[in-house]
Amino acid sequence: MGIRNKITVVGAGNVGATAAHWLASKELGDVVLMDIMEGVPQGKALDLAQAAPIEGFDVRLLGSTNNYEDTRNSDVVIITAGIPRKPGMSRDDLLKTNAGIVSNVVDQVVKYSPDAILIVVSNPLDAMCQVALRRSGFPKHRVIGMAGVLDSARMRCFLAEALDVSVENVTAFVLGGHGDTMVPLTRYSTCAGIPVTELLSKDQLDAIVKRTANGGAEIVGLLKTGSAYYAPSAASVEMTEAILKDKKKILPCAAYLEGEYGINGLYVGVPCKLGTRGLEQIIEINLTAEERIALQKSAASVQELVNVLGL
Ligand code: LAC
Repeated sequence: MGIRNKITVVGAGNVGATAAHWLASKELGDVVLMDIMEGVPQGKALDLAQAAPIEGFDVRLLGSTNNYEDTRNSDVVIITAGIPRKPGMSRDDLLKTNAGIVSNVVDQVVKYSPDAILIVVSNPLDAMCQVALRRSGFPKHRVIGMAGVLDSARMRCFLAEALDVSVENVTAFVLGGHGDTMVPLTRYSTCAGIPVTELLSKDQLDAIVKRTANGGAEIVGLLKTGSAYYAPSAASVEMTEAILKDKKKILPCAAYLEGEYGINGLYVGVPCKLGTRGLEQIIEINLTAEERIALQKSAASVQELVNVLGL
């Protein structure tokens, strides 16, 4: 037993493999890359391991096909398994196929890593979190969804471009489900601490909000054969790092709400404090009436999917 953390990434597609890349280059722990495709996780893990002498990271990388024994005692498991979107498909079109895939993955993961923290990335995100929570039987603080970090990173990217400033100066705040109804909040988004509402016109902000909500589809439309992966994987790794280093970092994540924001028994994106226990706190802020309605609408669209799945 080493003292290094162990992270499993399920799904060796673009999101999973790129997550493994960021995890390794940040030396966050040993990485097991799992996939049902024989040879793909092994090949990608081996290739990445051979980049280690060049880049200078000391972690073990293991690729594995369907042998969940290899994932035993993982601290964090990032679940990216599932089919991605094709042009014209919404995240919701993936619902039933990916619910089946995520259920199978969770069964295996739980068997070998009963204490792991699950970070769900598969789409439609919020509904897949609900699947993972129910199927794992884990407490809600150990089943968290990646969406808000990605959505707010997109918004930060667009804001920084419009302001012609460093992306590091810009924070952005996005609430709600990972879908067309997400709720980017400009009044809580800042540049060097200054609300962006003081720096950009309403038209500029409206355009950025719209582009953020459509951020995934914009990339699907360009790639044509798949969906985004650099930013989604980086987002899941930021969450992993916050957990493994017990950073108490506040990040927007999909969390199971039990009354917070007036929502009950449902995964929705909210500001969360991440640390060694996983989701350590949900931060509740006051919303305007308009924002509250937008959040309720977003929650209702998640609820519809959850209802289809009978969860
Ligand atoms: C996106 C997909 C991965 O937002 O949900 O790019």
